[in-house]
Amino acid sequence: MSDPAPPLPSKKLYIETVGCQMNVLDSELVVSQLRSEGYELTDDPGQADTILYNTCSVRQHAEDKIYSALGRIKHLKRGRPDVSIGVLGCMAQKDQKQILHRAPHVDVVAGPGQLGRVSELLEAAKREGRPQLAVSLARNAGKTLEVLDSFPTFDPDRGPAEPTPRGATPFQAFVRIQMGCDKFCTYCIVPSVRGPEQGRPPGLIVEEARRLVGQGVREITLLGQTVNSYKYNHGDGRTSRLSDLLAALHDLDGLLRLKFVTNFPLDMTDDLLQAVRDLPKASRYLHVPAQSGCDAVLKRMKRLYTVDQYDEMMARIRETVPGVAVSSDFIVGFCGETEESFGKSVELVRRSRFKNSFIFKYSPRAGTKADDRFDDDVPEEVKRRRNGLLLAEQTAICREDNLPFVGRAVEVLVEGPSKAAGRQGESDGPGGVTQMTGRTTCDRIVVFTGNRRQAGHLLPVVVEDVSAVTLFGRVLTTESAPSPGPEAALS
Ligand code: 5AD
Ligand code: SF4
Repeated sequence: MSDPAPPLPSKKLYIETVGCQMNVLDSELVVSQLRSEGYELTDDPGQADTILYNTCSVRQHAEDKIYSALGRIKHLKRGRPDVSIGVLGCMAQKDQKQILHRAPHVDVVAGPGQLGRVSELLEAAKREGRPQLAVSLARNAGKTLEVLDSFPTFDPDRGPAEPTPRGATPFQAFVRIQMGCDKFCTYCIVPSVRGPEQGRPPGLIVEEARRLVGQGVREITLLGQTVNSYKYNHGDGRTSRLSDLLAALHDLDGLLRLKFVTNFPLDMTDDLLQAVRDLPKASRYLHVPAQSGCDAVLKRMKRLYTVDQYDEMMARIRETVPGVAVSSDFIVGFCGETEESFGKSVELVRRSRFKNSFIFKYSPRAGTKADDRFDDDVPEEVKRRRNGLLLAEQTAICREDNLPFVGRAVEVLVEGPSKAAGRQGESDGPGGVTQMTGRTTCDRIVVFTGNRRQAGHLLPVVVEDVSAVTLFGRVLTTESAPSPGPEAALS
């Protein structure tokens, strides 16, 4: 028998992630790759041998944050030239060499399609003593297949013995089902930095999910920029869609909840809504960004639907899936948005009664159609005011729509101790009693008194109070059950 391999020398990795859930997943996969090469995570950049930034380009603010972090880290690198610095993700693909011009102390620049090579690139930078740049092809820089090939997936790299996913609890995991985006909304940089839309093969997705469930994951969130446009052509005449995937994943023993984000309104098909209605593990929650409530703005955004079509979709959703919660994204202050067109977004929020909305001020992105063709003509203070007004409208709706939950029993998938309770448990009361948090099937946050052992389980909780963003309750025991009636229905 050969001797066991000597332990790899420990290297310390610090990683900072900005942006969407896709980035959180990408970082997790990079960490997993580097861990298998002997890296250990640290929360302190001062202790790290390798410092990585996984970046976002959707708005200018996200980029500014990274450039200022790179500015701060320059001094650290001066004192410790051995430290490796990497810029990963969307900004790396968008700015490419410019990053090295602005921050010559960076060792690795790797776009979202190149993350499987991070460890090799870090090594090459050390060996060759010069920065490494790895990006995918621009969408018009080659034949379709060449461009697609330049964005290889690295999802299967999440090894069988992977520890807790970063940024989530041990019971929750993201699984990518789709890369890239083909919608080309005029304001959006994503189709150029994340490349063409590609669905992953269902077999690989189910295998990855099975492995995660085997490791104790109870809730899986499927990720795609337009997740409900997912399709995979098997090459033998069969095509798999998101509803097929949900049905296949639903069969996994041990899995308790399935979610998927983000949806594109025009692809919200009946088969998908029926799957959400009929599969008990499917979360009754749909994130379907509207972006604006004004046809003229939607047209300039090239969102491909009208307000009427969005309203029709909302009606179909509510009719098909009773009790469903819908959330949305809005951009305020897009090019040419008048007070009147903004007012139509307010009206859309009012009549749609979203569970919540993420509201963003338009941020022009170089390389997008909107930036080429339209003036960014809404002043910053007007954008800020509209952002505040729309948020206030949405918050009032959140509070009103949470109120009917008081007195109801809801089924909560427990995530862990609430922020107030802290991670370590020093402040737990006798018997480990502490404040726990979880979510209902319609994605409402619930805070209740419980204990850490409940994490990863489904529990009935009676709601006693609500705020705009949270339901507060206590665990329902047989003695404390509310009298049966419509208010006791599980939500
Ligand atoms: N400016 C502001 N918000 C944007 N989004 C995408 N691109 C931009 C931009 N250029 C928003 C959209 C999208 C969310 C993820 O980010 O609302 O749904
Ligand atoms: Fe961007 Fe539109 Fe694609 Fe969403 S659907 S990622 S907003 S281009």
